[in-house]
Amino acid sequence: MGSIQLRTSIPGPKSRALSKRREAAVPRGLSHATPVYVARAQDAWLEDVDGNRFLDFAGGIGCINTGHRNEVVISAIQSQLAAFLHTCSQVTPYESYVRLSERLNQITPGKFPKKTLLLNTGAEAVENAVKIARAHTGRSGVIAFEDAFHGRTMMALALTSKTHPYKTGFAPFPSDVYRIPYAYCYRCSYSLQYPSCDVYCARHLEDTFKRMVAAADVAAVIAEPVLGEGGFVVPPPEFFRIVMDICHEHGILFIADEVQSGFGRTGKLFACEHYGIEPDILVTAKSLGGGLPLAAVTGRAEIMDAPGVGGLGGTFAGNPLSCAAANAVLDLFECGDLLSRPNSVGEQFHKRAQEWKTRFDIIGDVRGLGAMQAIELVKSRETREPAPEETRHITQYCYEHGLITITAGTYSNVIRLLVPLVIPEEQMEEGLDVLENALASVCAARTTLAEAVTK
Ligand SMILES: Cc1ncc(COP(=O)(O)O)c(C=O)c1O
Repeated sequence: MGSIQLRTSIPGPKSRALSKRREAAVPRGLSHATPVYVARAQDAWLEDVDGNRFLDFAGGIGCINTGHRNEVVISAIQSQLAAFLHTCSQVTPYESYVRLSERLNQITPGKFPKKTLLLNTGAEAVENAVKIARAHTGRSGVIAFEDAFHGRTMMALALTSKTHPYKTGFAPFPSDVYRIPYAYCYRCSYSLQYPSCDVYCARHLEDTFKRMVAAADVAAVIAEPVLGEGGFVVPPPEFFRIVMDICHEHGILFIADEVQSGFGRTGKLFACEHYGIEPDILVTAKSLGGGLPLAAVTGRAEIMDAPGVGGLGGTFAGNPLSCAAANAVLDLFECGDLLSRPNSVGEQFHKRAQEWKTRFDIIGDVRGLGAMQAIELVKSRETREPAPEETRHITQYCYEHGLITITAGTYSNVIRLLVPLVIPEEQMEEGLDVLENALASVCAARTTLAEAVTK
């Protein structure tokens, strides 16, 4: 149960008919990675409306770390359904919101007193983290990184780096946002090499205060501990420690955006734990809700209390169903062995990917932390020219052969692994076989083309 089963050509007739309807009814701005329509899902597999079964290496873009329809999560949602659906926590509060906040305050890095605000989406949580940082510091500037992704609402989009397609046509964006290079060692902005660079990109923050914005005008630096949409880039271990020390010397808050890297994805509950850092504010979402929309801003109590009464909130923010689901997700991490899975899933991927690297010269880099693994594809290892078309062909081959994968990266040339952590080893292997065949097929096509050109 759960392995790939294809009954029709992909997409099947029912999915094709739905695509026609979607085209007429839904704006083209909402893209979709695959044209297959889901009928049901469980653990790490999806079944489409034509009865085809796929392995899911995308997990709803990292929202399903605990697996599709995890029974503990479903049962918590069902109990909540039987009690009440919505009252709005700003009108008549409920215990599950308070309990979830208490638990997040407890499990996020840092032993200091904390408070938590619940929201609906990652972007909304990022917006609120910035509001809170500005209210606390009385400063307006925010420094974000190149290749960062923080969401699609206006402030989040201002913080997001990639221009096309995210920002095209939507300017102007909120002001007082500054951007500096991330520790993307494979494509170092300063053409340096770690460790001889002495993590120059982190130390360069001091220079930013002279050339871009005065430190006294900066409320916060915001960063993803591992780049998500930017291509699963893992900075050197000391990078964030240096950035945070510089921030704190100047009274600047450090906001960690763990929307994609959180809740076990990297082998620890939060990726910040790998670096031994305790952010002033931590933003979470995606897998927190076990499949339901929920986000959180957790931070030092005195910072979180900076906005006045009534300054924070949202009608559905921290809704009862999502709180019930999230409390169940935390139960699963607390009581089960879920945190032992990311490393074995990640190792399984990494081992195969390293072996592919010796066979397929299209693979420029293999990297990741825990189960947050990726391969970066290039036209040439010497020039490191990105290979976005080949990347698209690989994901196309994958879904046509029963594996859902998604890309990432500023140059759209990264294939990332966001598989539910509950995937059994043999299903993982089956998915990796498809990915290997996809790589082989695209590399073979490249060779044939090159031979035809030289003839
Ligand atoms: C690191 C990060 N921050 C923020 C967001 C935005 O989250 P949402 O799509 O829930 O608004 C995302 C979404 O991919 C993300 O990866």
